[in-house]
Amino acid sequence: MRRQIAAGNWKMNTDLKFGQEFIENIEKQAFPEDVEVIIGVPYLSISQLAHISSKVKIAAQNCHQEDKGAYTGEIAANMLNSVGCDYVILGHSERRQYFNESDELILSKIYKVLENDMQVIYCCGEPLEVREADKHEAYVGQQLSESICKLDPSHMKNLVVAYEPIWAIGTGRTASPEQAQSMHAHIRNVLKTTFGEDIANATSILYGGSVKPANAKEIFSQADVDGGLVGGASLKGDSFYDIIQSF
Ligand code: PGA
Repeated sequence: MRRQIAAGNWKMNTDLKFGQEFIENIEKQAFPEDVEVIIGVPYLSISQLAHISSKVKIAAQNCHQEDKGAYTGEIAANMLNSVGCDYVILGHSERRQYFNESDELILSKIYKVLENDMQVIYCCGEPLEVREADKHEAYVGQQLSESICKLDPSHMKNLVVAYEPIWAIGTGRTASPEQAQSMHAHIRNVLKTTFGEDIANATSILYGGSVKPANAKEIFSQADVDGGLVGGASLKGDSFYDIIQSF
């Protein structure tokens, strides 16, 4: 059985007080035990927020690819692990776009996260012009083959894939349930060819891009969609809670 996951991504929003209140509130709510809840919070909040709730796992939104050294301002994976971080989001399109992160760099970060006993939420997804040219499957296939397809099969149990079409992130424009399903099936097929059927079937694939309470249920009900990576709608307790209930 694959894990069902509702993951938030707060990006560069929220301070410590907001995070504490938000997670304390979520902790008090009843939600399905088989849904894993993760929130990607700003680095500075991780050490405090990691210990508030056993029901909410904490993700970092990035890390550096080296263990240590003269990289002013950077955070290494072992530092994240030492403060109780569970997951690291890697390969987000905003990091690819604004910080020029290549698949090769993302792969080196993935290794560091796995070496340091945390799990990876690996993001992939195509820009609008690629979707309009009907080349999205090849584009995402290439992202996968240059990054996670190079991992050892044993690593895959600690990795979750998030498909996030760039044209749907923060735009209010969501992929249709059929578009999401079709890409998720493609991703699972790539994993099957690379790692075999068992690993492909055991890997959770999340959809991200303008997920909100109004569309979560229909998207999550698709056969190959195992949950969501949620930006804007994860910043409001009510809407994130509704999304958690949408499985
Ligand atoms: P959004 O962001 O839900 O605001 O579109 C998703 C993401 O960037 O992970």
